Amino acid sequence: MKNITRLCSTKATVTVNGKFPGPTIYAREDDTLLIKVVNQVHYNLTIHWHGVKQIRTGWADGPAYITQCPIQPGKSYVYNFTVTDQRGTLFWHAHILWLRATVHGAIVILPKLALPYPFPNPQKEILIILGEWWKSDVEAVVDEATQLGLPPNISDAHTINGLPGPVSTCLSQEGFTFLVEPGKKYLLRIVNAALNEELFFKIAGHKLTVVEVDSSYVKPFKADTILTTPGQTTNVILSADLGTGKYLMVTSPYMDSPILVNNRTATATLQYVGTNTSSTTTTLTVPPPTNATPIAIKFMDSLRSLNSRKYPAKVPLTIDHSLFFTISLGLNPCESCYRGFRIVAAINNVTFVMPSVSLLNAHFFNKSGVFTDDFPGNPAYTFDYTGIPPENLRTMEGTRLYRLAYNSNVQVIMQDTGLLSPENHPMHLHGFNFFVVGRGRGNFDPEEDPKKFNLVDPVERNTINAPSGGWVAIRFRANNPGIWFLHCHLEVHTTWGLKMAFVVDNGNGPEESLLPPPKDLPTC
Ligand code: C2O
Repeated sequence: MKNITRLCSTKATVTVNGKFPGPTIYAREDDTLLIKVVNQVHYNLTIHWHGVKQIRTGWADGPAYITQCPIQPGKSYVYNFTVTDQRGTLFWHAHILWLRATVHGAIVILPKLALPYPFPNPQKEILIILGEWWKSDVEAVVDEATQLGLPPNISDAHTINGLPGPVSTCLSQEGFTFLVEPGKKYLLRIVNAALNEELFFKIAGHKLTVVEVDSSYVKPFKADTILTTPGQTTNVILSADLGTGKYLMVTSPYMDSPILVNNRTATATLQYVGTNTSSTTTTLTVPPPTNATPIAIKFMDSLRSLNSRKYPAKVPLTIDHSLFFTISLGLNPCESCYRGFRIVAAINNVTFVMPSVSLLNAHFFNKSGVFTDDFPGNPAYTFDYTGIPPENLRTMEGTRLYRLAYNSNVQVIMQDTGLLSPENHPMHLHGFNFFVVGRGRGNFDPEEDPKKFNLVDPVERNTINAPSGGWVAIRFRANNPGIWFLHCHLEVHTTWGLKMAFVVDNGNGPEESLLPPPKDLPTC
C-alpha cells in the first residue's frame, strides 16, 4: 500500500513496486517470463497477463477462481509463461475484486531480434496508459454497490499515465508532459486500463497512424481520434513534425447508452523539445461528444489485419462450433437489496456464479461438483433483441462452461440486447486472439449477415465491443487446452455476472496438452 494524492485527497492505494501505474514489462517474442508476485496487502490477489495467449500454460493466466486460487496475503506465486506468436503492446492487471483500478501496467513484446517492424522504424517510443481514479477506496465502492444491488459510483477522474491533468479543480494537479524531438517518429503504445469506460483519445494538431492493436499488426491507416475499450491496446505512429509548441492530449468517454452519461476528460501535454514553455500557449483540441457513434464506427471499420506474407491472417474458414450469445442486464430477487432486486448481467440468460475453488484445477484433476459443461450455445428463445424487453428480467444462475474440442473452429455471434439497457460491451476472451469477421446494428440475421463477413483480413484482437443495439461476430481456433474466461471488460458488468468460460479439451498427445500445475500454485 502506498499513499497517493489525486484530486486534492490522499488515500492508501494498492500499488506494484510502489508505482501507479505499475512497472512496464519488456520482453521479446519467444521469451520465457518468470514473474514473482509477492502479496504484501490485506486483499487476496492474482495478476492476469491480458492478451498473452498462454499456450498450454493456463496456470499462469491469472483470473481468480478460473485458473488459480488467489495469492493470499503474505504469500507469493511465480507466473511462468512464454510469449509466442504475438508481438506489440499488451498489459497486466489484477484479476480479482476491482484491484485492477490501480494494479496494472504495460507489457511490451518486441519483435524477434533482427526482425523489423512492418512499418518504418520509429526512432522513439512513448507509453500512454489511460485509467480511472476514485477518491474513495475502490473496494468499498464496489461492496456498497453489490450489497445494495445498485450500480457503483462512477470514478472521479480519468487519468493519463496516472494523472488527470489540470482539468481537475485542484490546481496542484499537473498533467503528464510528453517531450518529443522535432522531426522524429514516435511509436505510441496506448493502453486502456480504465475499469468502466470506453475512451476516445486524440492529440491537437497531429494525426496518428494506427499500426497494431492487441498485439497484432494492422494495415496502417491515419486517424484523428482513437477509440479504445477497456482491455484494448493500440499502437500508433506519431510524426513529431510541427517543430515546436505544446499540444493538448485528451481522453474522454465514449458511451452509446441513453442512461449513463459521464464526460470527464483527462488531459496531458505533448511538448516539443526547445519550446519556450512560459511564452507558448497550448494548442487545444476538443474531444468528440460522448455519444459520437459515427466516429467510433469509422475507427472500427478502418481496422484490418495486416495479412502480409509474414503475418497472414489465419481466419478459420469452416465452423465446428456455431454459438450465439445474447448479452443482457437483468434483475434478480434479493431480499437485502434496495427494492428487493439486484442488478445482474448474463450471457444467454445465464449469470455466472464464481466458484470458490479454481475451475482449471477441477478440470485438470477431474473433480466433479465445481462446474457443469452445459452452458447453452444458443438463447432459450428468440425475441427482438433490440426492442422492448420482455417483462421477466430474471436470469438463471450457475457455474456453467461450454466445452470445445481441441483444434475445433469456433464462431461466436455476440448480440447486445435492450434488456434493461442497451450498452456497448467490450468482450474479452482469455487464451486466444480472435478474428472480428462481422459487426452490425439491430438483430443478427443468420441468413444474410454471414454473406457479408470479412474472411480475408478481419482485425485480430482479444477484446471487442458487442455494440449497443447490435452484434459482433468472432472466430477463433480452439488450439489452446485449458479453461478460458470470456467476459465483459467493464468491471461493473463482470461483477454483475457478465462472464462465462470455455473448457478446451487436451489434444492428442503431451505436446498438445495443458502442462501440469506449477509446484507453488496457490491453493484455496
Ligand atoms: Cu483484462 Cu479477464 O481480463
